[in-house]
Amino acid sequence: MNYIAKDDRYDNMKYNRCGKSGIMLPAISLGLWHNFGSVDVYNNSRDILLTAFDRGITHFDLANNYGPDPGTAEETFGKVLKQQLKPYRDEMIISSKAGYYMWPGPYGEWGSKKNLVASLNQSLKRMGVEYVDIFYHHRPDPETPLEETMRTLDLIVRQGKALYVGLSNYNAEQTKKAVSILNELGTPCLIHQPRYNIFDRWVEDGLLDVLEEKGIGCIPFSPLAQGLLTSRYLKTIPEDSRMAKPHGFLKRDAFTEEKKKAITGLNEIAQKRGQSLAQMSLAWLLKDKRITSVLIGASSVKQLEDNLHTLNNLDFTDDELKLIDELSAPVIK
Ligand SMILES: NC(=O)c1ccc[n+]([C@@H]2O[C@H](COP(=O)([O-])OP(=O)(O)OC[C@H]3O[C@@H](n4cnc5c(N)ncnc54)[C@H](OP(=O)(O)O)[C@@H]3O)[C@@H](O)[C@H]2O)c1
Repeated sequence: MNYIAKDDRYDNMKYNRCGKSGIMLPAISLGLWHNFGSVDVYNNSRDILLTAFDRGITHFDLANNYGPDPGTAEETFGKVLKQQLKPYRDEMIISSKAGYYMWPGPYGEWGSKKNLVASLNQSLKRMGVEYVDIFYHHRPDPETPLEETMRTLDLIVRQGKALYVGLSNYNAEQTKKAVSILNELGTPCLIHQPRYNIFDRWVEDGLLDVLEEKGIGCIPFSPLAQGLLTSRYLKTIPEDSRMAKPHGFLKRDAFTEEKKKAITGLNEIAQKRGQSLAQMSLAWLLKDKRITSVLIGASSVKQLEDNLHTLNNLDFTDDELKLIDELSAPVIK
């Protein structure tokens, strides 16, 4: 399939500075955790990626283990890059991560130098790129000395295998320690990737303040609570949804009566605002200037396009915010 990127691709996207760095990220970025593995329909994955790029999404987020099978999301991305997006490599911010289980034995996960270096080498090969733009430590490792993990991130940047480094799933205290080591080494932390959405607000308890103080960007993952904060589950559990798929990370027990009630109420507020529930949920995150970009997933081009319309209305009245808080209070983590 021949592909030429649309000339107007930068016209309707908003770009935010990532902390105090030189990098700007699109307000909406695309993640490849689900829907891009070997179990998924390749042409659909490709079309989502190309539509995203045509609409100004310059940031694509991966990890060693995304699939299933683990590693195959990076392969899918590598194939689209090779066949369609290669001429645009310098217009893209590609990220990957290591830290979760990837291969058997003592070196296939966590935070050792051995794991991070080997894993990134594998990721580069799968994607067919010489470097990633951002390399993350995917989760804190309670056993490996933090100095070893941070020194490895610094090494990887000095080797030219990543341009910037990031942290994911580190709490406020862990982030402070890691950032201070990285600063001493001369490789500042560019960005933090935590879970954050209307139903899961743990980052408001310290992490966001640390990121602001240290000049680090924030890119919340699962901003739609894996699809719960959309119109997907308003009536039933659709057969083609993440919750219904055997390999999906969203399980049926996450869909409680309390959540159903909250979703129904939130959907009514969204409708009154002239937005879909997905759009309102993304706007709710983007209203905070500390949020650089929201990292969405999508199983279709239609969902992606729906989400892109978020940028038409990012403002909330105090009453709307109060109502959102009240409706979500019973299910907030
Ligand atoms: N660092 C970490 O530890 C970590 C962990 C998780 C995720 N992430 C990153 O964050 C990215 C996003 O995570 P996520 O996929 O959980 O994000 P999400 O945006 O919360 O959920 C995406 C899912 O929501 C549904 N959806 C999206 N837009 C919709 C719309 N407009 N209308 C109806 N349904 C819609 C789709 O579900 P269906 O598939 O059911 O259609 C889609 O697969 C991942 O790809 C990954 O890059 C990072």
